[in-house]
Amino acid sequence: MAKCKDYGLATVFVCLCLFGVFSVPVTAALKKYQFDIQVKNVSRLCHAKPIVTVNGMFPGPTIYAREGDRVLVNVTNYAQYNMSIHWHGLKQYRNGWADGPAYITQCPIKTGNSYTYAFNITGQRGTLWWHAHIFWLRATVYGAIVIMPKQGTPFPFPQPYREANILLGEWWNNDVEDAVKQGNKLGMPPNTSDAHTINGKPGPLFPCSEKHTFAMEVEQGKTYLLRIVNAALNDELFFAIAGHNLTVVEIDAVYTKPFTTEAILLAPGQTTNVLVQTNQVPGRYFMAARPFMDAPLSIDNKTATAILQYKGIPNSVLPLLPQLPALNNTAFALTYNAKLRSLNSPSFPANVPLNVDRHLFYTIGLGINPCPTCLNGTRLTASLNNITFVMPQIGLLQAHYFNIKGVFRTDFPDRPPTPFNYTGAPLTANLGTNSGTRVSKVEFNSTVELILQDTNLLTVESHPFHLHGYNFFVVGTGVGNFDPSKDPAKFNLVDPPERNTVGVPTGGWVAIRFRADNPGVWFMHCHLELHTGWGLKTAFVVENGKDSDHSVLPPPKDLPPC
Ligand SMILES: *[C@@H]1O[C@H](CO)[C@@H](O)[C@H](O)[C@H]1NC(C)=O
Ligand SMILES: *[C@@H]1O[C@H](CO)[C@@H](O)[C@H](O)[C@H]1NC(C)=O
Ligand SMILES: *[C@@H]1O[C@H](CO)[C@@H](O)[C@H](O)[C@H]1NC(C)=O
Ligand SMILES: *[C@@H]1O[C@H](CO)[C@@H](O)[C@H](O)[C@H]1NC(C)=O
Ligand SMILES: *[C@@H]1O[C@H](CO)[C@@H](O)[C@H](O)[C@H]1NC(C)=O
Ligand SMILES: *[C@@H]1O[C@H](CO)[C@@H](O)[C@H](O)[C@H]1NC(C)=O
Ligand SMILES: *[C@@H]1O[C@H](CO)[C@@H](O)[C@H](O)[C@H]1NC(C)=O
Ligand SMILES: *[C@@H]1O[C@H](CO)[C@@H](O)[C@H](O)[C@H]1NC(C)=O
Ligand SMILES: *[C@@H]1O[C@H](CO)[C@@H](O)[C@H](O)[C@H]1NC(C)=O
Ligand SMILES: *[C@@H]1O[C@H](CO)[C@@H](O)[C@H](O)[C@H]1NC(C)=O
Ligand SMILES: *[C@@H]1O[C@H](CO)[C@@H](O)[C@H](O)[C@H]1NC(C)=O
Ligand SMILES: *[C@@H]1O[C@H](CO)[C@@H](O)[C@H](O)[C@H]1NC(C)=O
Repeated sequence: MAKCKDYGLATVFVCLCLFGVFSVPVTAALKKYQFDIQVKNVSRLCHAKPIVTVNGMFPGPTIYAREGDRVLVNVTNYAQYNMSIHWHGLKQYRNGWADGPAYITQCPIKTGNSYTYAFNITGQRGTLWWHAHIFWLRATVYGAIVIMPKQGTPFPFPQPYREANILLGEWWNNDVEDAVKQGNKLGMPPNTSDAHTINGKPGPLFPCSEKHTFAMEVEQGKTYLLRIVNAALNDELFFAIAGHNLTVVEIDAVYTKPFTTEAILLAPGQTTNVLVQTNQVPGRYFMAARPFMDAPLSIDNKTATAILQYKGIPNSVLPLLPQLPALNNTAFALTYNAKLRSLNSPSFPANVPLNVDRHLFYTIGLGINPCPTCLNGTRLTASLNNITFVMPQIGLLQAHYFNIKGVFRTDFPDRPPTPFNYTGAPLTANLGTNSGTRVSKVEFNSTVELILQDTNLLTVESHPFHLHGYNFFVVGTGVGNFDPSKDPAKFNLVDPPERNTVGVPTGGWVAIRFRADNPGVWFMHCHLELHTGWGLKTAFVVENGKDSDHSVLPPPKDLPPC
């Protein structure tokens, strides 16, 4: 760990947080935002470089809304990249047109064009986030979404004194799109990131970054709510605050049964709200984020820090570092995830589907396919049920809605073509996959159970899976191969965690359930950008219900053309 020579000294820039909760207008039901996609020269670590931003900000602006609001975000693209924005975790009922993944629900917003994402926030409250959903541009194009409960509805936990957003990110010194191009040319992963960040800043453990530390001033004896987002591209992250425990109260905008822990774990795409009691000796305490990686893979293992600073304490006080779980601490990860439970109160019930109409079993695999233009003549790839997803040229939702033939096939298999010992010894031969734009058709309002099974094709690894358009219940998880004769008996059908992104454990499985009551085309993919790019993705085409109230809405007039 490189220590900056100015480590902890008075040069550390203290920027006070904006406390969102008090800036939300009380009644307005319509919230309008303007997002200008611009390239801006931002200085981080040892140098400044142009990055793609929203409104010149990094991280981008926070969307504040209240449950029940209608939100309009006019995205105008002034950059030389195609753009699309995803509102990660918003269900977008019947309204996939506002979901954002490029070539799944829309064509990108081209340079010089605008598109207004128009959506209602219905039945959701908590912390979500938005990010670019094309190429790797979400490395710098992301921000928080804060949804306050309906007016007059309190949180189901002690009212915090103040709150702050903590966005964990990943930073490349060079242009991230160049790194990806270079990786694709070689058929190898691109360079790993150079730093992790907290609210866009790496903190004083990095050299030459003494001005780049996020600090949050707190008063002693209060309760603070931190809304934490893992916006990193490829790294699961532990997060902790020296000397302070964290009480988890919400994940992915769903309230949980509160529990207290010294550190939390978030996979890319996940959000966690925690309460922090400022009950320690007034001082300066580091918040820190560092990856969790329990597969034999090399990653950026550097620690990002920020400062929790008690009021009146000078910047010259040296902060303490928290004890983060070791990089490879599988036991911590499994134990932590097992503590997550839906609140399941009368006001916020966990409506877990008890009967399953459709059983799906998808294997997650890495592989190697021929690539005549690549350095070795091969390239690394990834697949679900041995299918590497090929991106279409137009949006799948348009193809579905307008019945355009030949864009996708609905024959994605419900189970792997050939069962094998998924998590046995590493398989390093016959690593080829099949390619195709293949999706699964799901009947409206049917209940789906999906087992996601990691495999040892090349290597086992933990994979965070994100489903668009839905929350799902994580009814079970385990290490090794899913056992259909024994494991279902252990499922939690009472208060399982409800979320939109779940980590499939390294060499293990998860079982999720959801009711397919949102018609449209919904992307499902590994939220490690590296694996998404390698084809670890598919989509569900959820059919319309019987009447027009349960059918996909007509597309907006300004939907970007292809
Ligand atoms: C960005 O800022 C740095 C430092 O101020 C400067 O050296 C560099 O030329 C700038 N780059 C661009 C593209 O403006
Ligand atoms: C979106 O913003 C652009 C650029 O400011 C503007 O030209 C356009 O009219 C706006 N669209 C809407 C629907 O307001
Ligand atoms: C969103 O709410 C508005 C009223 O505010 C309504 O007209 C519109 O149909 C709703 N859209 C969806 C997708 O529910
Ligand atoms: C990737 O890293 C290598 C080795 O540090 C460096 O030579 C190369 O320029 C980097 N590539 C990009 C695109 O940043
Ligand atoms: C944090 O929790 C641990 C375990 O429950 C406990 O031992 C410790 O005293 C707590 N620390 C603080 C600062 O509350
Ligand atoms: C982080 O990675 C570097 C380079 O791969 C390695 O030298 C170092 O030991 C690692 N640190 C930890 C804490 O794993
Ligand atoms: C975790 O990494 C440490 C240091 O690299 C190593 O000593 C230890 O054996 C590893 N633990 C496991 C469970 O792999
Ligand atoms: C390509 O070749 C390099 C160098 O020989 C090797 O390290 C790498 O594993 C190879 N990549 C693949 C995908 O086979
Ligand atoms: C799968 O592989 C593991 C590890 O090699 C082995 O322990 C296990 O017995 C195998 N299972 C079956 C069903 O062959
Ligand atoms: C995947 O498909 C490829 C190409 O058809 C085949 O060679 C390979 O054996 C299959 N792998 C698995 C695990 O089914
Ligand atoms: C979906 O199914 C549930 C359970 O059978 C039922 O209560 C609900 O009314 C159905 N919804 C629609 C829109 O048909
Ligand atoms: C931008 O998107 C359009 C429409 O899909 C496509 O034709 C064009 O090739 C894209 N440009 C780049 C640079 O990807």
